[in-house]
Amino acid sequence: MSLDQLLAWTPPGSPDETMARQVNFEQLPAHIAIIMDGNGRWAAQRHLPRVEGHRAGIDSVRDVVETSARLGIGVLTLYAFSVENWKRPWTEVNTLMTLLKRYLRLELATLHENNIRFRVIGRQDELAPDVRDELDVGIRQTANNTGLLFNIALNYGGRAEIVDAAKRLIAAGVNPDDLDERRFGEFLYTAGQPDPDLLIRTSGEMRVSNFLLWQIAYAEIWVTETLWPDFRRRHLLEAVLAYQKRDRRYGGIKPSPVVVG
Ligand code: FPP
Repeated sequence: MSLDQLLAWTPPGSPDETMARQVNFEQLPAHIAIIMDGNGRWAAQRHLPRVEGHRAGIDSVRDVVETSARLGIGVLTLYAFSVENWKRPWTEVNTLMTLLKRYLRLELATLHENNIRFRVIGRQDELAPDVRDELDVGIRQTANNTGLLFNIALNYGGRAEIVDAAKRLIAAGVNPDDLDERRFGEFLYTAGQPDPDLLIRTSGEMRVSNFLLWQIAYAEIWVTETLWPDFRRRHLLEAVLAYQKRDRRYGGIKPSPVVVG
């Protein structure tokens, strides 16, 4: 993808256009992961039921998926439902699952047309059969697409993922002497995917909330006060521009400038 692809979809003269022109397309994050938070507060501010915040959050999902695809991001992972979220009232859980099914049903054709590959990470076997069926259709239909890889983290927990990986590698009979970080990564839900370079969290909370614990070891974290239902393309561009200004050292030191003469 390219600047032209992004500008074709950006109102001329808008702040989004100014930001889009500042993006360095040679230095994009390979993987962006987002903790979509603040739906409940967004609804409360409007004296609406919490589920209306989730409903409004779907527009943000659509905007962020399309912007990521146009930017040329390799992988986008959205945290839609954690293993802890089952503790929420049944009606809220039910609405979230219904929204997810409806999103897929309505958006699948667009995802496919845009060459987006849809995947789910999390304990899918614990989801209701109707939800699993809907997800399977999306995964199957987009399996051969080669553009953005769009992961939805659903019934996902970072610790659960590490436990599941350990169980799978034991079942596969991996010899402990052959085990290193690279080999362990092959048993994670995200096997074969690059680790997130950029982790975004909305609504100002400074927590990682059991999200991609293994994979975010060296991710740059960007937190915005914006509540998820208000998050749009300009916020994603803002995060990418902030990421591109970071000095990533991976535990090393910054090489000193060479002084000549
Ligand atoms: C956190 O806000 C948000 C969630 C637990 C769910 C996010 C889900 C969606 C946006 C809809 C479905 C997603 C997809 C990918 C189609 P919160 O309820 O914890 O907000 P609060 O902290 O303000 O209470």
